[in-house]
Amino acid sequence: MNIQVPKGTKDTLPNQIYKWQYVEGVIKNICKKFNIKEIRTPVFEYTELFCRGVGDGTDIVQKEMYTFTDKGNRSITLRPEGTAGIVRSFIENNLEQELLPQKLYYILPMYRYENIQKGRYREFTQFGVEILGSKDVLADYQSIDIVNKLFKELELNDIELQINSIGCPECRTKYIDKLKEYLNERYDSLCTTCRTRYTSNTLRIFDCKESKCKSIIADAPKITDNLCDECNKDFEKLKEILTFNNIEYVVNPILVRGLDYYTKTVFEFVSNNIGSQGTICGGGRYDKLIETCGGKDTPAVGFAMGMDRLILEIDQQKIDIIELSNVDLYIGNFDNSTDKIISKLADGLRNRGYIIETNLMGRAVKAQMKYADKINAKYSCIIGQDEMLKGKVNIRNMQDATNNEVDIDIFEIAKILERGI
Ligand code: HAM
Repeated sequence: MNIQVPKGTKDTLPNQIYKWQYVEGVIKNICKKFNIKEIRTPVFEYTELFCRGVGDGTDIVQKEMYTFTDKGNRSITLRPEGTAGIVRSFIENNLEQELLPQKLYYILPMYRYENIQKGRYREFTQFGVEILGSKDVLADYQSIDIVNKLFKELELNDIELQINSIGCPECRTKYIDKLKEYLNERYDSLCTTCRTRYTSNTLRIFDCKESKCKSIIADAPKITDNLCDECNKDFEKLKEILTFNNIEYVVNPILVRGLDYYTKTVFEFVSNNIGSQGTICGGGRYDKLIETCGGKDTPAVGFAMGMDRLILEIDQQKIDIIELSNVDLYIGNFDNSTDKIISKLADGLRNRGYIIETNLMGRAVKAQMKYADKINAKYSCIIGQDEMLKGKVNIRNMQDATNNEVDIDIFEIAKILERGI
């Protein structure tokens, strides 16, 4: 039987994982500077959370969830996104009683049953940040600032920040009535999906890729012209602070995002380098979600970034993440007779922080030297009976082939690893 990885999933092998580890390190460092704490929530939740949180009418809930009934007859869903689970945890663990805002980040796998293509998988990883408890636009700005800083530190260019405001429930309801009035006159020209969306989720018409719908949308009234005073003031403030901090953006009046929980600010970072799935990051404010999920009326804002797409972008922009040569010393043997001393020496050097590799394959000396070369060991040595009798071993610099004979002694060998031959 030839078992393969399930469709839409992938292995991340050691020859790729160092990039992930590097990026995760940069992310963790940035989160630290913003005083954002890590949170880990379960891979699966009760299905109802996503129906209520993400929204019954969304593509995620309608088509993409991995849902099953467990042995206790409960409906369980593998998380398709991180926000709903964090909101559930915020409420359940009474984080709303603690100092606000709660600033939380996660790097976790998500699951969506999607049509797969480059940059779109069924198992993918998101780095997300959620700022719970602040209604200030400064929190919206901070979310964007974090992503911007990450791209800068990774030396990524050409990723466009698009922003929009989809208003609060009050001004959005009025706007949707106006939009429906406009669309009603053109209803017969809309595609079948848009006709369904007309009643179920009118704003999602903006996501249609059909050219006839696109031209209708282009002339539709814009939500940013129909915001209430407060939403308008907030959106203007966000634009001002972005400009003041030299963060470039474009206002995309048809950016609405595919999840139901958003209010006011929404944003995406979009790249043209990685194909049709170019949205590397998406987020926005969700002031009503905590209340919808049974908590107190608490404003919040956040984003999630597709790590898989971020790595694709890093590869596409040819950002060189160097895999450091890790192994400090390869300690080889002639036969098994020196195994005990080698294991003791390796242990002592590892305790001092060095990365040590030994002969686990019973290779002959020549093959061991080739192996030490292939694993980029900085130094190598072979300890056999002769070396044991003399009490000395020859340490070889694998780069320039210089040698130095030292006592078989952890301290003496460590000196060479530290200072060179
Ligand atoms: P989202 O737009 O559904 O938002 O996903 C965020 C990001 O996850 C996308 O921009 C994309 O980079 C990545 N992503 C989504 N689906 C896939 C997939 N099938 N394969 C690979 N990458 C994918 C959310 O999930 C919200 N929870 C974001 C948020 C947090 N809003 C506020 N807080």
